[in-house]
Amino acid sequence: MHTKGSSCCCSFEDYKLTTEWLLNQTRHRPKVAVICGSGLGLLAEGATNKQTFRYQDIPNFPVSTGE
Ligand SMILES: *[C@@H]1O[C@H](CO)[C@@H](O)[C@H](O)[C@H]1NC(C)=O
Repeated sequence: MHTKGSSCCCSFEDYKLTTEWLLNQTRHRPKVAVICGSGLGLLAEGATNKQTFRYQDIPNFPVSTGE
């Protein structure tokens, strides 16, 4: 497996681990996900039932400098 934090990864197996980890952390089962850049973070303000994760906690997830 690639080292955590490498900017370029991921095999299908890596993604499966990421998915499994996320599903383990939450009871939410979303059908759609939106990744917002730093300019679109306001979209999240309007969300109800929200749950947040730190990028560095998510396995195989590239860590961004933006929020
Ligand atoms: C998800 O939870 C199951 C059951 O607790 C555990 O066996 C598995 O290792 C967890 N997977 C991850 C990726 O955390």
